[in-house]
Amino acid sequence: MLIALVGYMGSGKSTVGQALAKDLGLPFLDFDSFIENRLGQSIPEIFAARGELFFRRTEHELLKELLAEGPQLVLALGGGTPCYAGNMDLLLQHTPHVVYLQLSVGALTRRLETGQAQRPLIAHISAEELPEFIGKHLFERAPFYAQAPITIRVEGQGVAAVVAEIKNLLV
Ligand code: S3P
Repeated sequence: MLIALVGYMGSGKSTVGQALAKDLGLPFLDFDSFIENRLGQSIPEIFAARGELFFRRTEHELLKELLAEGPQLVLALGGGTPCYAGNMDLLLQHTPHVVYLQLSVGALTRRLETGQAQRPLIAHISAEELPEFIGKHLFERAPFYAQAPITIRVEGQGVAAVVAEIKNLLV
């Protein structure tokens, strides 16, 4: 079984993904880490040295490569992965188990206020501008996330509750 988690930065894809994988006895793969390992550079380094377009091209090529292997795992994607280069269609061709972790702009803003520097797309945004930026960005991306067959409203729920909800919807 391949379970793919999608959602905005800070929605908990990696945390929930690790817990879900443990629960289901499946391996876990963080797609950002996969890209970092393959390129030998961190995500901020890739954006700074080679730019976002290079990142999006590489992200698409590596997603194709990974999915072609027919992997059995819980895969946490990057926040932008489903929104570029036909990646969501590609994903849906490989698995029906695509899960969108949905959170409000307010909750995402609170979660993203710390560790901004590690996220190149928001590293330069001031605290005052962050809610407006996230609101617009999420509005652009929502149509892609909405193509996931499963949506979980994460707001106010702990990791264990989110994992349990996903498991219930998978069977
Ligand atoms: C991005 C999200 C990041 C990472 C890159 C771009 C995005 O992943 O792939 O910085 O476009 O939303 P996380 O969602 O794991 O932070």
